[in-house]
Amino acid sequence: MSFTVAIDGPAAAGKGTISKAVAAEFGFGHLDTGLLYRAVGRKVLHGASAIEAAETLTTEDLTADDLRTPEVAQAASKVAVIAEVRAALVDFQRAFARRAGGAVLDGRDIGTVICPKAPVKLYVTASAEVRAERRWKELTGNGHEAALEDVLADVVARDARDRERAEAPLVAAEDAVHIDTSDLTIDEAVAAACAAVRAKQGSLNFE
Ligand code: C5P
Repeated sequence: MSFTVAIDGPAAAGKGTISKAVAAEFGFGHLDTGLLYRAVGRKVLHGASAIEAAETLTTEDLTADDLRTPEVAQAASKVAVIAEVRAALVDFQRAFARRAGGAVLDGRDIGTVICPKAPVKLYVTASAEVRAERRWKELTGNGHEAALEDVLADVVARDARDRERAEAPLVAAEDAVHIDTSDLTIDEAVAAACAAVRAKQGSLNFE
């Protein structure tokens, strides 16, 4: 039986951490859909055409070790405005969402466009300052040089592009449970997400 948890929200709000923890807790598969857009953006930085890159994406492209850089993140949000790029990535995401045993997908349009019927939808947010500081700690912790104000400017620019685009803009689904992680510990945020999943499983009698 399939059971989809759709998790959306702006950059560095904690979606990745929450998604991995929910997937581990319930034994679901996890797809970080941002990686698809990052892989396309990375190929464009290497000279490819965005639409062709999206239509020919391979699993190898998804495992490149430089997908997490700020340059690739900006490139990802630029290719993500292109309707044909988004269309090329839909089937893969929907097939993953239907996998037996349950799936967690995190991104920007999972609850609104990719899986509008997902039984659980979460919208994870935090203030731009908190998100930038988290991303800055992650980057510097991984040995990247970065100034906090540059990371904040990057996050704000990417949010604006994601929210203002015509195709599948970042917006909470009407029936999403909102989790603001600004003042939550990781454990508290994960507990809130798991509680939302459990509540729905209980009402659906999902085993
Ligand atoms: O989640 P992550 O920060 O890795 O996403 C990188 C970019 O990919 C986002 O800024 C957004 O433009 C795009 N994206 C998207 N739809 C998704 C996931 C990511 O447009 N479902």
